[in-house]
Amino acid sequence: SSRQELEVIHEIPLYRPFVEKWAQVESFQARPDDLLISTYPKSGTTWISEIVDMIYNNGDEEKCKRDAIFNRVPFMEMSCPGLLSGTEQLDTVPSHRVYTITHLPVQLLPVSFWEQDCKMIYLARNAKDVAVSYYHFYQMAKMHPDPGTWDEFLGKFMAGKVAYGSWYDHVKGWWEKKKAYRILYMFYEDMKKDPKREIEKVLQFLGKDLKEEVVNKILHHTSFQEMKKNPTANYEMMPTWAMDHSVSPFMRKGMSGDWKNYFTVAQNEIFDAHYKEQMKGSTFKCQMEI
Ligand code: A3P
Repeated sequence: SSRQELEVIHEIPLYRPFVEKWAQVESFQARPDDLLISTYPKSGTTWISEIVDMIYNNGDEEKCKRDAIFNRVPFMEMSCPGLLSGTEQLDTVPSHRVYTITHLPVQLLPVSFWEQDCKMIYLARNAKDVAVSYYHFYQMAKMHPDPGTWDEFLGKFMAGKVAYGSWYDHVKGWWEKKKAYRILYMFYEDMKKDPKREIEKVLQFLGKDLKEEVVNKILHHTSFQEMKKNPTANYEMMPTWAMDHSVSPFMRKGMSGDWKNYFTVAQNEIFDAHYKEQMKGSTFKCQMEI
């Protein structure tokens, strides 16, 4: 089945070049020692991946950079014509595969991840900052259709008519799963506030113990300023037809609360009311007021 069929059945739009080989994704065989990183787009995927990579490389920046160029595993649901798909690449990686990344909503994750009880890190970011970041990403990353005006895009975001669907369903779906599976559920806002504490949480979750100086090195290497100038992390190696950083850099602002520069008072009121409705009945909480 193809991306188009998938979208019709599940009503979840997906990135244009992704998921042409859905059957491969569906039947993907996870291994018990696989680590999965899952996020809704624009929630800090690149950031948490860099942290995990640095942890597995014991703070060796050069190894981490080589990893990023040669064998950083792409999105598992990625499949572009003419390239090895994400799952094909994963199949060639010997155990222990460091990690794999996905933006899939919980109901579309290949079942083998649940069956194998893999460890998973889910990173969430507040909806308003995600919407702003996503709007800029839609403009610079050419795999997206034209987002229209900010107001139009915000409407689409709220309606879940953006790639990977509803933010609300995504964060809630993974939040529910953490009750029964080994999911470390993290927040971008916590990482901004106290990155060292959050890195230590990841270490504990992975059962890794690193010296204080190594942790400090990871902290420095994964700061926004460092990642913004790191060519293996800032996506500047992408050709301009795929990502145009002159429209908006991938490493844009890296802050919490930028939404205040974009939401009008009226948009904010409508958004808050809709948010309340969407999140009704869920114990999920994130920090919006920063
Ligand atoms: P902004 O557009 O708000 O700046 P993803 O990797 O999921 O696509 O998320 C990208 C967002 O994470 C961008 O947000 C980017 O700037 C931010 N980001 C990337 N690395 C970061 C870091 N080290 N610290 C803080 N934010 C970071």
